[in-house]
Amino acid sequence: MSPDFHRESHYLRGMLGLKLATDPRWANIAEKSLEEILTDHAFCEQKAATSGISLIVHHSDKQDIVDEVTPLVAEEWGHFRKVLKELKKRGLVLGRQRKDEYVNELLKLKKKGSNKEDNLLEDLLIFAMIEARSCERFRLLSLHVEDPDLRAFYHEFMVSEAGHYRLFLDLAKKYHPADKVKARWEEILTGEAEIMRNMELRGDRVH
Ligand SMILES: [Fe+2]
Ligand SMILES: [Fe+2]
Repeated sequence: MSPDFHRESHYLRGMLGLKLATDPRWANIAEKSLEEILTDHAFCEQKAATSGISLIVHHSDKQDIVDEVTPLVAEEWGHFRKVLKELKKRGLVLGRQRKDEYVNELLKLKKKGSNKEDNLLEDLLIFAMIEARSCERFRLLSLHVEDPDLRAFYHEFMVSEAGHYRLFLDLAKKYHPADKVKARWEEILTGEAEIMRNMELRGDRVH
């Protein structure tokens, strides 16, 4: 593997905690199926907005959730619109939503909590996980795709999803003891790395 790949891995372990880095060559594969990856990306944003709304509805008694997730939902919907605009600009169209294998596998990691508070922790950490991996993927795209406009486009998402990753982890710590959050986060990171190891690296999917 190239020294670049190791630099990437090191950076991401430090920043996002990911236990398995994506091969940066993935970005060049993705660029070859732009319509598909933009479509998949658009639906990732839609799902992020939808999940945020559900979180607010289910935890409307928690002021910090309502206050902080509401602007996040607006931002994710803004992302959806940005991806649509990018498709249009390039004469491409939004295709149909595909099965989200990555998220389906991640959801299997969720402990079926016996109470609402434990369920909230599971949800917040799974959301943080999706943001972290998305951030890693957008970063690779922002560094390695050939089109400079696309690099700038993905850079913006990278920054924004990094903020969301942080926000979900901070919310988890607001409602649960820090050591409990840390221990469970480690387990989820390990489980996610295992999922990634077993998934085919596809250029037409964000994850
Ligand atoms: Fe987003
Ligand atoms: Fe996000």
